Amino acid sequence: MCTAQVRSGGREKIQVAAIQEALLAWFEANQRQLPWRTAPSLYKTVVSEFMLQQTQVDTALPYFERWLRLWPDFTSLATATEDEVVKAWEGLGYYNRARNLRKLAECLAAMPELPSTAAAWQTMPGVGPYTAAAISSIACGTQDAVVDGNVVRVLSRLTADARLFSDNGAAVKAIAPLARILLYEKNPGAHNQAVMELGALVCRRQNPLCTVCPLVSYCAGAASPETFPKFVPRVVEKLFLNRILVLHEGKILLQRHAAASRRLSGLHELPLAASGMETRLKAGILLGTKRRAISNQSIEEKIFRVNWDLGLEAAIQSEITHTLVWVPLENLADITLSGPHRKWITQLLQNRNRVLPG
Ligand code: ADE
Repeated sequence: MCTAQVRSGGREKIQVAAIQEALLAWFEANQRQLPWRTAPSLYKTVVSEFMLQQTQVDTALPYFERWLRLWPDFTSLATATEDEVVKAWEGLGYYNRARNLRKLAECLAAMPELPSTAAAWQTMPGVGPYTAAAISSIACGTQDAVVDGNVVRVLSRLTADARLFSDNGAAVKAIAPLARILLYEKNPGAHNQAVMELGALVCRRQNPLCTVCPLVSYCAGAASPETFPKFVPRVVEKLFLNRILVLHEGKILLQRHAAASRRLSGLHELPLAASGMETRLKAGILLGTKRRAISNQSIEEKIFRVNWDLGLEAAIQSEITHTLVWVPLENLADITLSGPHRKWITQLLQNRNRVLPG
């Protein structure tokens, strides 16, 4: 066995071949049976990597299965409309991934041959360095190391990397040389998936399972894994929003994001209340307070049941550029709502007799 030792960013010496071997043996015995791993194809790899960009495997799984039933290959996906792909993505968030995946299928249909290097994949819509390395190493066997949040966590712990990273992008950049050194060149696709899988199943953010980790005997950070990676604390911006739920003649009032909206183009949400609507809110009923976190924002949203009146739409419209639309309640399933709004509206309509007169 090769016993090459390498100094990592954390200044620990690591045994490359022993780590590669232990990692791959663990992956072969413990990897999850995922639909993009059994009978893999380029198409399945691309779809799964797009879905997994911001989403955990368990969440992505039912979407992946449905997506493949709707569009089993690049050719069929290229014929889909943007509304159709965004609808199929409803609830996964970061909807540009769906739009880009459709565009990518269109581009491939027009190309004489498929991209076969990470550099070529990176020129495709929605494909950044991480996704390019994942697709080309898994589907084309190229020597590209994947570095995502999981990989940063595994490698920074392995080497007890004491560097303080300003954000995830900086951490990815700093860890990339080590990831490249550790890449098992005989099977880069399996190696990359193994590191990500170890990060998801064993080297978890909280409560890592060091006692069953195949790398524990090489791990310089095993005594205090949760202290790695080290990040500058994030400044969290707090946002307070009021939203309204208006029902009138069997229809619900929603705002539809404009095509130019970067993230939510075409998606529907409960309308935001404008600042001049205090009196209407006070006369309404507070149905609930929802809290969520999106990257560095913590958002608290109050939802008020408000009665329809003649000036209501103009009052809302005074502060938003989105289009207001009345959607018949029986058509709610056909439109695309952003994930949290689908959940909230469904819950609120279930309690309708109690909270929603009219
Ligand atoms: N996260 C992103 N891509 C992945 C993959 N191919 N296997 C496991 N986790 C992943």
